[in-house]
Amino acid sequence: MSKLDRRDFIRHSIAAGAGAAALGRFPEVSAAPVSGRKVNPIVITSHTNQTGQEAIRQAWDILSSGGTAMDAVEKGANIVEVDPNDHSVGYGGLPNAAGVVQLDASCMDGKTYNAGAVGCLENIKTPSSVARAIMEHTQHIMLVGKGALEFAVSMGFKEENLLTPQSREMWIRWREQLSPDDDYGPKSYLKTLKGGGGSKGSETLPVEYHHGTVNVLAVDSQGDIAGITTTSGVSWKVPGRVGDSPIIGDGLYVDNLVGAAGATGWGEDVMKSCATYFIVGRMRDGRSPQQACEDACDMIVQRYRGIGSDYVPGEKFVALSKDGEVGCAYMGGGGGPPALTLHTPEGQKLYHGRSLYPAKG
Ligand code: GLY
Repeated sequence: MSKLDRRDFIRHSIAAGAGAAALGRFPEVSAAPVSGRKVNPIVITSHTNQTGQEAIRQAWDILSSGGTAMDAVEKGANIVEVDPNDHSVGYGGLPNAAGVVQLDASCMDGKTYNAGAVGCLENIKTPSSVARAIMEHTQHIMLVGKGALEFAVSMGFKEENLLTPQSREMWIRWREQLSPDDDYGPKSYLKTLKGGGGSKGSETLPVEYHHGTVNVLAVDSQGDIAGITTTSGVSWKVPGRVGDSPIIGDGLYVDNLVGAAGATGWGEDVMKSCATYFIVGRMRDGRSPQQACEDACDMIVQRYRGIGSDYVPGEKFVALSKDGEVGCAYMGGGGGPPALTLHTPEGQKLYHGRSLYPAKG
């Protein structure tokens, strides 16, 4: 190396070093294994209804007997998925515009940093378990549509009709509203109310617009973290639409060194903001799970101001740190009540999050 070359080399090396420091490169982490650090286990879900409480109770049974976070979150998610009365997830979830239930789900195992996901999966009640099978039995992360169904069947999952009489009725009610002039129009519904025919029970069924989802996150007694997000997606969606739930970093993210986050609500907002990756990143930077969830709401609202002055995003975020601290923030009325259900060695309880940016009007 000539003198000049050497000087240039040293100058560039110094500049590169200074640049790295100024940029605050991703911190190196201790080589110490995370697994086996013995902590108090905890499981949380974004659902606060009775099914959510039962889901947490059964997930806790697994954690409290030394089971893994991955087994616990799968059990919890399955309880909600098979509930026919939950219209935002799995069996009984509201269908797409064509009356077909298409499910999205993802799972992530912090112990291995591996993930699995399904999009537009039909006819299988427990899409989160199919996502786990993809994670554990293939080299892929996501399968969609027909391929996802074929994979599920090949793994022994049973094909079943996911429309319940009630969810079908709701879809018909929605379809009635598409045109005021034909047989499916509101006029025929009015006729029903006046006793002029129509299907029994439609008087009491509201037309619902759902973008609900369930997140289940857990830390096990070995200190490992896992999560699942599962949904039937936005009701009456265009067939083939995939939302945020099966996208790692959008509907779900897990980092065994930091914690986990899950999103519910309007998936398109979450997909544009990579919200759960953002939340876990904020936690990595020292923010509490509560602060990190609120940061995500601030970030999304600030970014999306350009959409229109009246536009209020509708999402709920839940987060769990590796030390068992929780957070929940909510905006615009999306994703259910501004709370989560949790279970620790002290028992089961509701954690009330913070509601930000209420919907206008
Ligand atoms: N968050 C569920 C969905 O938008 O599909």
